[in-house]
Amino acid sequence: MCSIIGYLGISPAAPIIVKGLKRMEYRGYDSVGVATFSEHHINVRKGVGKVLEVNKAVKLDELIGTIGIGHTRWATHGMVTDTNAHPHPSSSGEIAIVHNGIIENHEELKKELQTLGYTFKSQTDSEVIANLLQYNYDKTKEIKKSVVDTVAELKGNYAFVAVFQDGTLAAARLHEPLIIGVGREGYFISSDVLGFVEYTDEVIYPDNKEFVIIDSSGLKIFDFDANPVQHQITKVSKEFADAYKGQYAHYTLKEISEQPTTILNAGNKTKIEIDLASDLIKHARNLYITGSGTSYNAALIAKFLFSKYAKIKIDPLISSEVQFSPDIFEEKSILIAISQSGESADVLEAVNIAKKTGSKIISIVNMMTSSLVHQSSISIGLNCGPEIGVAATKSFTSQLVVLYKMVDKICDGCIELDLTKVSEAIKKILSNDSKIRDVANRLKDVSDIYVLGRGIHYPIASEGSLKLKELTYIHAEGLPGGELKHGPLALMDSNSYVLIINPNDSTYNDTLTSAREIKARGAKIIGISDKPSDVYDYWIDIPSITESLYPLIEIVPIQLLAYHAALEKDTDPDYPRNLAKSVTVK
Ligand code: F6R
Repeated sequence: MCSIIGYLGISPAAPIIVKGLKRMEYRGYDSVGVATFSEHHINVRKGVGKVLEVNKAVKLDELIGTIGIGHTRWATHGMVTDTNAHPHPSSSGEIAIVHNGIIENHEELKKELQTLGYTFKSQTDSEVIANLLQYNYDKTKEIKKSVVDTVAELKGNYAFVAVFQDGTLAAARLHEPLIIGVGREGYFISSDVLGFVEYTDEVIYPDNKEFVIIDSSGLKIFDFDANPVQHQITKVSKEFADAYKGQYAHYTLKEISEQPTTILNAGNKTKIEIDLASDLIKHARNLYITGSGTSYNAALIAKFLFSKYAKIKIDPLISSEVQFSPDIFEEKSILIAISQSGESADVLEAVNIAKKTGSKIISIVNMMTSSLVHQSSISIGLNCGPEIGVAATKSFTSQLVVLYKMVDKICDGCIELDLTKVSEAIKKILSNDSKIRDVANRLKDVSDIYVLGRGIHYPIASEGSLKLKELTYIHAEGLPGGELKHGPLALMDSNSYVLIINPNDSTYNDTLTSAREIKARGAKIIGISDKPSDVYDYWIDIPSITESLYPLIEIVPIQLLAYHAALEKDTDPDYPRNLAKSVTVK
């Protein structure tokens, strides 16, 4: 949700900020804006649209000055309009802010500030931060004090960066990410290291409830009670430098194509943590696993793996639903939390609820600097590098690999987990790209797609339908094969397209029967299988592999299919409408 960035240094700020925003656009892309400080003035330019479009229209990167702030928005409060785009200046224009998160008490604060004569232009909750800072600054003319007084009054989740009319930057965080970059040419402050990684790999991670003041004399960090705080400068891992599209047309395609390598990294770099987690799991009284969206689909796969191979019962929980059954956790429960970003508000809430009962948290995370890692007893990294495409692809297969590894450890190698074979199989699927593109061509004008799988393939069907929905905006639904006759068969007619996940394993015959029943109603069948059949109107061939490992490979052709269908439909696969990569609000 929303990206924020600030820069103070010796180079022109606006081009640096625009580049950083482009890299962080995955966090929100409804509107974009930049403010720079020059000659005692704060100048703001902003507009609705993606970074490059708005930059072309209003020349964000031509704003003068070596100090500035910027923002990309994912709208929560107020429509997607130029006025609601950030940065928001205070009513006097002496301070401007960019904000990520939600200010829960903005209405009360706004009313109070209006009675004191401060005016508001936007419908956002964020503008209240600008005027509250201004109000507190007007009282004392001290920037540090104005930040302390402001954070004392704000309720909700936030990270903000403010630029003051003397060119000072101030930034604060409460449950939203904020990272400082320390470069030779200046300081950066941003929601994600991607905002500045090409300028410096030296970073500081301020803790929750801390704020930062950056001016010409340097950088100072304080807690919300105004006590100075010291943090070490650390180096970001080199994977983060790999956040370019390179030869690929889209991040999504790049990330799908990286899977032969990323699944190996997920398996090979995490042995110690997986061993520790597996030991803990063996002694758990109750075992739960949670996530949202794609990460929840990985949790559903875990249910099959744990019961079949480790003989352990694990309950998958949709993170946003945990609040409605908080009493399931007991003292010796273990909750495995899966999240690419480690910042999903729903996942963090589920973790908080579990922790209150004394449950232990094991997390499976890509962003190892995230809030989820701080909340966990053990964190297992996905090591798949930054995932910029909003639809999760490589992170999903990496999550599965970590779960497979855990189960394989618990059952003493019973899964026959040969990741090199998996990697080779994925390479083969990727080389089938032109065939998959041909099939995608057929989906252009289709209004409904069903994805059917049985047993462990049903969560893959759900994940496949999620990819199709997100990338193509076509209505798509995952179906458990056996449920067809209990209702969904009524939907099948000659306008329906059905993807059948049908590897040559113990589910094969039943799934083929389902395919025939659907075909008899006139629907078109796309078979994803290592075995051809006359029932398939289109066959996407996958390599044969050990039965337990099919879920690791069979999602890849569906990811590619969704990607190519998005191109056919002229939607942007990297930035699906209305979505954002990291859902940090409830
Ligand atoms: C789907 C997708 C979302 C995320 C979900 C959880 O392609 O990207 O459904 O999977 O928002 O995000 P994380 O894993 O970051 O908690």
